Amino acid sequence: MEELKIAQGTKAERYKLLLEQVKCVVEGETDLIANMANVAAMIHETFGFWWTGFYRVEGDELVLGPFQGPLACTRIKRGRGVCGTAWAQNETIVVPDVEQFPGHIACSSASRSEIVVPLRDGKGDVFAVLDIDSAELNTFDADDRRWLERIVAAMPLACCR
Ligand code: SME
Repeated sequence: MEELKIAQGTKAERYKLLLEQVKCVVEGETDLIANMANVAAMIHETFGFWWTGFYRVEGDELVLGPFQGPLACTRIKRGRGVCGTAWAQNETIVVPDVEQFPGHIACSSASRSEIVVPLRDGKGDVFAVLDIDSAELNTFDADDRRWLERIVAAMPLACCR
């Protein structure tokens, strides 16, 4: 029990620090790509995930944006895979086991679990998604969801909000 508490505290503490760092780094910078690049790097470095990056909405597709990790699919149709589904449903999706997600797009066979968080404009429409893949099962839960939603909300995206 004690160990579990410490582990949870550690994750919360790392996210708390990460959120503060993100706010500092993006403050005063309104360029979407620059902020996506630094935020992807900070999340990736903090937790050592398999793949961390952004896809931007372009017409009826998501197009690959700044990321950290191995190469990835460049275009994803609306409603396809976890990313396209999070966009279409305009909500965060946590996938404990990608093999159980119908239509999951396997950019890498090493990816086992995943979270996708939408970025919304001033009207509430999705203009991009944050996609994080883990090489282990069950990596993401409601806490990751809450913290990552706060992190993307902290990004001042002058282009889209
Ligand atoms: N697994 C994702 C595709 C993107 S990559 O894994 C980087 C999906 O199903 O949306």
